Amino acid sequence: MFVADCFDVNEKGHLTIGGCDTVGLAEEYGTPLYVMDEMTIRQACRLYQKSFQENYDGHGMAFYASKALNCKELCRIVAEEGLGLDVVSGGELYTALKAGFDPEKIHFHGNNKTQDELNMALDNGVGVIVMDNLDEMKRLDQLAAEKGVTAQVSMRIKPGIDAHTHSFIRTGQIDSKFGFALETGEALEAAKAAIASKNLNLKEIHCHIGSQIFDIDPFVLAAEVMMGFRKQIKDVTGVTVECMNLGGGFGIKYTDRDHPQPYNAYMSTVAKAVKAKAKEYDMPVPFICLEPGRSIVGESGITLYTVGSVKVIPKIRTYVSIDGGMTDNPRYALYKSSYLAVIADKAGQPAVEKVTIAGKCCESGDLIQEDAMIQEAAPGDTLAVFSTGAYNYSMSSNYNRIPKPPIVMVKAGSSRVIVKRETYDDLIKNDV
Ligand code: LLP
Repeated sequence: MFVADCFDVNEKGHLTIGGCDTVGLAEEYGTPLYVMDEMTIRQACRLYQKSFQENYDGHGMAFYASKALNCKELCRIVAEEGLGLDVVSGGELYTALKAGFDPEKIHFHGNNKTQDELNMALDNGVGVIVMDNLDEMKRLDQLAAEKGVTAQVSMRIKPGIDAHTHSFIRTGQIDSKFGFALETGEALEAAKAAIASKNLNLKEIHCHIGSQIFDIDPFVLAAEVMMGFRKQIKDVTGVTVECMNLGGGFGIKYTDRDHPQPYNAYMSTVAKAVKAKAKEYDMPVPFICLEPGRSIVGESGITLYTVGSVKVIPKIRTYVSIDGGMTDNPRYALYKSSYLAVIADKAGQPAVEKVTIAGKCCESGDLIQEDAMIQEAAPGDTLAVFSTGAYNYSMSSNYNRIPKPPIVMVKAGSSRVIVKRETYDDLIKNDV
């Protein structure tokens, strides 16, 4: 019935997560409230590690894409599980370093890293800086020379693959702001220049073809294109690039219409394709890196809200208004993303009402979902929205000066705050 095994309904008919009553959590910590189940996150991390063992002799590693959700405790959990980290900004890197994350196991991404960010990455010994364009490569080359270090680098490639996902998050095709183009020869020129530079060590080639993808085929195609590029680099320069990073993008379950592939099916298919290409090209198999974000944290999280009003507009729609909205979850406003919702205090009852779940911002588009089927809603009810673990807190804002909700982590019946609720004082702390 629900998106993940950590959810259930208890004897009171309340929704539970990780053995905790969600209505009790809403009372204890207040709403809106993000709640995440630690074991679901850890299990997702372990699935990636295990599928490398089973399909690729362990010759690979997952780097959690922390843009999905970055906070110190999550960095610590991911580190404990043996994953690396993908960061895309000085802020994400700072959080990871403050959490004690091993910089060697960090990949630094971004299509326009600032000079400060490049300095920060080099000064802190970040494992790999993923170069996006020629201008950045020149800057990095110079900075590394000035510091007398060799920058360990990767190159983001546009493999030209249309992954049939939402156009806002489609990044593998040629018309994308991310990465070097293969078709124009730009990528090969950049690889040659990186290899020729004594300040750069080209460790990896990288691609990321999109997000919330369910098909395995585009991933296989991307892996084959990247293997072809690796061969081209070898032919032209004589250098065999050690690692191939295939990015993230694995789809998760938001509603019953979503059918994610088991990770193992993905890894076994991709591993076979990579091994076949390595054999065909008479080259060693590359070390494979993956960058799952959504699939590590997405399904583990829910958001709890309190229903404030139920406004019936006869023959048009019923608005159920909650105490959060686009400030804590902008994904419906941005992408019309589908979500499953339940009235947590009536989770054992059938979903009988078709409603529009509306937020509290001064903005008509501030909706969490239209035409959602939920239990009969009344003011004071706790409303739970599923699969909000990824790209919710990390994309939240203070629009209308609404403080950000806290994140509570649950584990086998106990709960703890891992990110505190913002206060009104937090909102004005930078005002002068
Ligand atoms: N690696 C790179 C280089 C990426 O750009 C991304 C996501 C990932 C890994 C992780 O992808 P995932 O496994 O999470 O799909 N805000 C959008 C998603 C944007 C994803 C951007 N890049 C959303 O809410 O759906």
